[in-house]
Formats: sequence, structure tokens, C-alpha cells
Amino acid sequence: MLVIKNGRVIDPATHTDAPGDILIDGGKIAEVAEPGSLGRDPGREVFDATGLVVAPGFVDLHAHLREPGQESSETIETGTRAAARGGFTVVCSMPNTNPVNDNAAVTRFVLDRAEATGTVRVWPIGAASVGSRGEAIAEIAGMKEAGIVAVSDDGKPISTAKLARQVMDYCRSFDLPVIEHAEDVSLAGGAVMREGVASLRLGLRGMPAAAEAVCVARDVELAELTGARLHIAHLSSKASLEQVRRAKSRGLRVTCEVTPHHFTLIDEDVSYDSRFKMNPPLAAREDRAALLEGLADGTVDAIATDHAPHEPALKDVEFDRAPFGILGFETALALALEQLVHPGRLSLVRMVELFTRGPLGILGRERKIAAGQPADLTIFSLDRAWTYQVERSPSKSRNSPFDGKKFKGGPVATIVAGRVVYRAN
Ligand code: DOR
Ligand code: ZN
Repeated sequence: MLVIKNGRVIDPATHTDAPGDILIDGGKIAEVAEPGSLGRDPGREVFDATGLVVAPGFVDLHAHLREPGQESSETIETGTRAAARGGFTVVCSMPNTNPVNDNAAVTRFVLDRAEATGTVRVWPIGAASVGSRGEAIAEIAGMKEAGIVAVSDDGKPISTAKLARQVMDYCRSFDLPVIEHAEDVSLAGGAVMREGVASLRLGLRGMPAAAEAVCVARDVELAELTGARLHIAHLSSKASLEQVRRAKSRGLRVTCEVTPHHFTLIDEDVSYDSRFKMNPPLAAREDRAALLEGLADGTVDAIATDHAPHEPALKDVEFDRAPFGILGFETALALALEQLVHPGRLSLVRMVELFTRGPLGILGRERKIAAGQPADLTIFSLDRAWTYQVERSPSKSRNSPFDGKKFKGGPVATIVAGRVVYRAN
């Protein structure tokens, strides 16, 4: 039995923001009570959370764990250890592995590896098309049976409107969300950053903001046609956000996520350093301003990391040749505090919602801090000073633009099924 004592318990699912004690027994929450009321009995392990926030376990909708097939960049073991350090208790793993998670055997492999080697829970996402090649629809029914929580061809968009319609029709009958990496490849092809003054200055090929918005517009129409649940991954532009806002006001089941790097950095921050290369690329200043607004007003449903490890041998090359993607788990919460909460743009409860109730709702799930619920908790500080040092990361990769950055506040402990899987020292 474990008691989390004297924390500031924040749970957007129950509109709670109050001091309290939490008793954990057998992987579940046994009791939530007044501060100082539990933890006196002998035989109870006590975690003193005085001065800390105790939140429901954070859920990351968008992560690349690279197993099977790209284990020199990450494994389920190393990736989930990094996730635990970031305060995540659940990570949804994208299917662009090798082989692609496009059938039940790969889904089961991911779940088995997570069971055997994982530090936090792994919820796999299945491919929309066979090999994510955009030709034939994947075996969605089999994967659903095996345990996928959503469908995506992430890394690429679903290739055509026709296939996207078919996938949405199918997913609607299984009540699975379709997660779209929104990119019109004919507009984006060959580009390595966002098109604009910054790309001109650097002489790097840019993709226009419209590359994303055109695909979002296509998919919103198809969501209306099919009645499917559509979720836009790593939304980065003002125009795309406007599409989502309008879709929501039309009553469509359309949701979106934003990454910490897109609400923190912009195209003007890009140099020839490949740690600033990701897809979608860092956007314009006005896009970032729109994302901050969307995070505050409810248009954005979740913060997701798009944790995308690439080993140094692949990533430490010229900007043009480097793969897209950066690490995300360990800096996500600290960036959210820095950009959203400390400047007063979002309330703390709203920020916690974007890491918990928001992503869970997209998957059609709910969790709360209440007796009988799984004991998954994220404990964090609002003011602790620390420096992110990527060389200390359990990840196998080092591709973070935030290496060496000083933060105020961040994860202190992560609890999965009642076990403390990470504790800052
Ligand atoms: O930056 C990215 N990296 N964007 C993607 O869509 C894919 C991801 C990856 O797999 O590395
Ligand atoms: Zn993507």
C-alpha cells in the first residue's frame, strides 16, 4: 500500500483542484481523502507530495518507439523509460515501424514487448493501409481485436481521398479514431522546412502552410460524409486550426493535437541544425500565436509529443538529408509550464486536461482520480529548477533542440498501476 500525502490533487475529469491524500492498493486507487488523513498507519509506504501537483497519469497520443525494426534509434524499453521521466503513464505508439504495424501479429508483438520490457503502458496505433503505402486498406478488424486504439499512416497522410473515405467508413463501424498526418504531398514534396522568409534566407526548400490545411479540409469533408471520428495529428498552422474550429461548430467529430515544439518554436528558430527539422515543420510566428489561442479556448484537444527518435548516425548529417523528427517525452510538461501556465495563458487545470482527459476523450476513454480506478498518476513540480541534459536520457537518440535548456517545473514522479516507475532525485 502506498499513500501519496499532501499533494495538490488536480483532476479535470472531476473538476478537482484541492489538497488531498491518495491511498493506492493493488494497482488501484483505494481512497481519496482529506490531506493528512491517510498515511499514519504503519505498513504504508508514504510519498510526501507537499508542494507538488498530483494529476491523473499523462497520456501521449503520438509517439514513435521504433520497435520492431529500428532498434538502434529506440526500443519499447528505452522509449517507455524516457516517457516515464516525462510523466507519461500511457504512450500510443505509431505504426511506422519495420515491419509496419498493419496486422494483428505486429500489434501483438508490440503489446508483448511492452508487457515484457515497458516501463509505462503502450497502446498501439495500427496502420490505415498495408505497409502505410496508401494502396490497400490494412487489416483493421484484426488489429482492433488485437488491441489497437486508433488508425494512422503517420509519417505520411492517407494517400488519397478515396482511400481515406474507405478507412473512415471502416473505422466508424469499429468506433476507432482515424489519426491523420495532414500533408498534401504534391505541395510539400521535397521540402525540409516551412516556406517563408526564413526558408528563403536559409536557402532551404519550404512547404507552404497550405500543404497541411488542404489535407485537413479534405478530411473534414470526408468525416462529414462518413460520420467517422477524425483526429488531426501535430496540427501546426492557423489555417488548419480554423478548419478544425469550423468542423467542431458544424458538430463533426473532429479533434486535434498540438506538439510542445510547435507551441514553443517557430521557423525563425531554424538554422542548419537538423535538431530543428521535423514534419510538420516549425511554423510562422502567427501560426504559433493561433495555436496558443486554440490551446486556451478548447479548439485543441490534446498536447502530444510526436517523440521521434533518430540515432545520431542518421540525424547528425546536413539539414537536407536528415530525417524529420525530434525527441519529445522529457521536455513536454516543462515546455507546457513555460509557454502556457507560467505566462498565464492557460490555467493549470486546463494544461492538465490537455495531457489527460483530452487525449483519453479522443480515444473514447475516461479516467479519474477516484476509488477503483487504475493507480496511474503524474506528480510534478511547478517551480523546481532543472536543466534538460539529453546525454542523461534513457532514449537511444539525442535529437532534441532543447538540450541544455533550463526549466522551472517538471515531472517529479510517475506512477503506473500503483508502482513508482520514475522518481526524480
Ligand atoms: O517529424 C516527424 N517524424 N514527423 C512524422 O510525421 C514522422 C516522424 C518519424 O517517424 O520520425
Ligand atoms: Zn506525423
